[in-house]
Amino acid sequence: MDLDQVKNDLTKVLVTEEQIVSRVKELALEVDKMYAGKDLLLVGVLKGAVMFMADLSREMQIPVAMDWMAVSSYGSGTLSSGVVRILKDLDADVLGRHVLIVEDIIDSGLTLSWLASNLSARGAASVEIVAFLRKPDAAKVEVDVALVGFDIPNEFVVGYGLDYAEKYRTLKAVGILSPSIYS
Ligand code: PRP
Repeated sequence: MDLDQVKNDLTKVLVTEEQIVSRVKELALEVDKMYAGKDLLLVGVLKGAVMFMADLSREMQIPVAMDWMAVSSYGSGTLSSGVVRILKDLDADVLGRHVLIVEDIIDSGLTLSWLASNLSARGAASVEIVAFLRKPDAAKVEVDVALVGFDIPNEFVVGYGLDYAEKYRTLKAVGILSPSIYS
C-alpha cells in the first residue's frame, strides 16, 4: 500500500519506501559478510517482521533457511512484563546452528532480550539480532543488537509490518500514527 492511501492517518512520515529499500540492501550486505560460509537460520518474529524478513532475505546472496516464531508478552494492554509466551515455536532445531533473529522493532527490548536468551539456551552456535527499527528512548533493558535499520523517536509508528489493530502492516513506508486514530 502506498502512502497516499493513509496520509490523513499519519502525522509524519518517518522512513520512506526509498530509504527502506536502500537500507535493507545495506543490511543484507552486512549479514552476507557476517555469515559467509556458515549455516545460517533466519528466525522471523511474527507478525511484524514478515515484510522485513522477506525483503532482507531476498537481498542476501548467501543461502539461508527461514523459520518463524510467534510470541506474546504477558501483561495487560501496552504494559509489557518481560515474560513471554510462545504462541508458535520454531519447526527447526537450533542446536549447533547460527541463528539471526529478524525483528521489525525493538521497543522496550523485553521481547528480544527474552527470545535471544531462549534460543541460546537451546544450544544455538550463535544468536544475533537484526532489527529494522529501534526506539532508543523506550528501552527498559539493554539488548545486544548486531544490526539496526533505523533508530526512531518513541512514537506510535505503523507500516512495513507494524500495525495498529492489524491495520497498516502493508504500508510500504513507516509513519507516526495520528493520535486521532487510537484515542
Ligand atoms: C511487537 C514487535 C516486537 C515487540 C517489541 O510485536 O514486533 O515483537 O512488539 O516490543 P518490546 O521491545 O517492547 O518487547 P507485537 O506484540 O506488537 O506483535 P506483532 O508483531 O504480531 O504485531
